[in-house]
Amino acid sequence: MKVILFGATGMVGQGVLRECLLDPGVSKVLAVGRTPTGQAHPKLKELLHRDFTDFSPLERELGGWDACFYCLGVSSAGMKEDDYRRVTHDFTLAAAKLLARLNPGMTFVFVSGMGTDSSERGRVMWARVKGATENALLKLPFKRAVMFRPAFIRPMHGVASRTPLYRVLYASMRPLFGLLEALFPKYATTTERVGRAMLRVARDGAPKPVLESWELDALGR
Ligand SMILES: NC(=O)c1ccc[n+]([C@@H]2O[C@H](COP(=O)([O-])OP(=O)(O)OC[C@H]3O[C@@H](n4cnc5c(N)ncnc54)[C@H](OP(=O)(O)O)[C@@H]3O)[C@@H](O)[C@H]2O)c1
Repeated sequence: MKVILFGATGMVGQGVLRECLLDPGVSKVLAVGRTPTGQAHPKLKELLHRDFTDFSPLERELGGWDACFYCLGVSSAGMKEDDYRRVTHDFTLAAAKLLARLNPGMTFVFVSGMGTDSSERGRVMWARVKGATENALLKLPFKRAVMFRPAFIRPMHGVASRTPLYRVLYASMRPLFGLLEALFPKYATTTERVGRAMLRVARDGAPKPVLESWELDALGR
């Protein structure tokens, strides 16, 4: 299986990259991003790109892939809706439209989050934007598009958030991870299980197009 990965430098993406590189069924990983991952591996190739609203300059490289794991995303904290929409919705759709055209047999997995608002009309800005993004992705002619809605994700194997505030939060919460998982097992997963669940979905399909935290966690176990 050949996998394209967006957001490979982020907390979720680093975890997904690790699982892809470890999986003997994955022959190639193409990481598309604006920052190098800093990793070297025989299966890994990287494409650095600047304008995430236009991937046409990369068109020759983006055909012939089986799966795309889209882990690029930002926290909405302190962001205006237009700016958050540009990164969350516009970047994702710019990549996904091109990939769907070039790879009709592709499985596309998008990381949204618990509480995403499929009605696109609720009061919570990030949830509306993620909902609009999910809805648009589900209309594209992929073989399969699957939305992951994790809640709390425990970073494993040394992966870290790109967001400084989250790095501090995760570091201070580390002693509480076990307690959180015991108290709220439905809402806790790990970067390892998210990565494994994506690979499982790309290989075997998903029971439904939108997977909540406990559903994707079960697929990754
Ligand atoms: N972490 C969690 O617990 C959690 C829970 C639920 C849902 N999610 C969702 O999962 C997704 C990834 O979260 P994360 O925790 O992995 O975030 P993160 O650690 O902050 O990483 C964000 C990733 O997106 C890339 N990115 C951000 N802004 C970009 C831009 N303007 N242009 C190009 N690339 C950009 C970053 O690339 P650079 O390295 O170049 O900055 C990095 O690869 C988000 O959509 C988030 O909402 C996360």
